[in-house]
Amino acid sequence: MKLSAGIILAGFAVLWDKMVRSDREMAAIRQITLPYNPNRDFTFHDDFIIIKKNDDLQVFSSRCTHLGCIIRSIENEKLICPCHGSTFNSDGHPEKGPAVKPLKKLAYQLDNSNQQITIEL
Ligand code: FES
Repeated sequence: MKLSAGIILAGFAVLWDKMVRSDREMAAIRQITLPYNPNRDFTFHDDFIIIKKNDDLQVFSSRCTHLGCIIRSIENEKLICPCHGSTFNSDGHPEKGPAVKPLKKLAYQLDNSNQQITIEL
């Protein structure tokens, strides 16, 4: 009995260490610079969606707020999650569930001369 409790505790300790280490590694990456094409209204990068409306830019995490699937498609100006069908408008707000929270909005700096965007994480 004591041995199996010790094994379970050791397993939790290993998992906890991996989770904390992963958070520390992510915290070390504070910003990322990506190419940006000003002629596109919707730009999908791995973890980000850049949306241009008129001259206004918004950058969102591409992780669906339901269960975290990556959103990579758009239809009729709606972002569509491939996993369970949530849709988000171009301001990142959910229009159809199961997601109920808006996409995470991210700060950015635009370098038009080099067509690059630096996104704050
Ligand atoms: S993860 Fe996007 S709708 Fe479920």
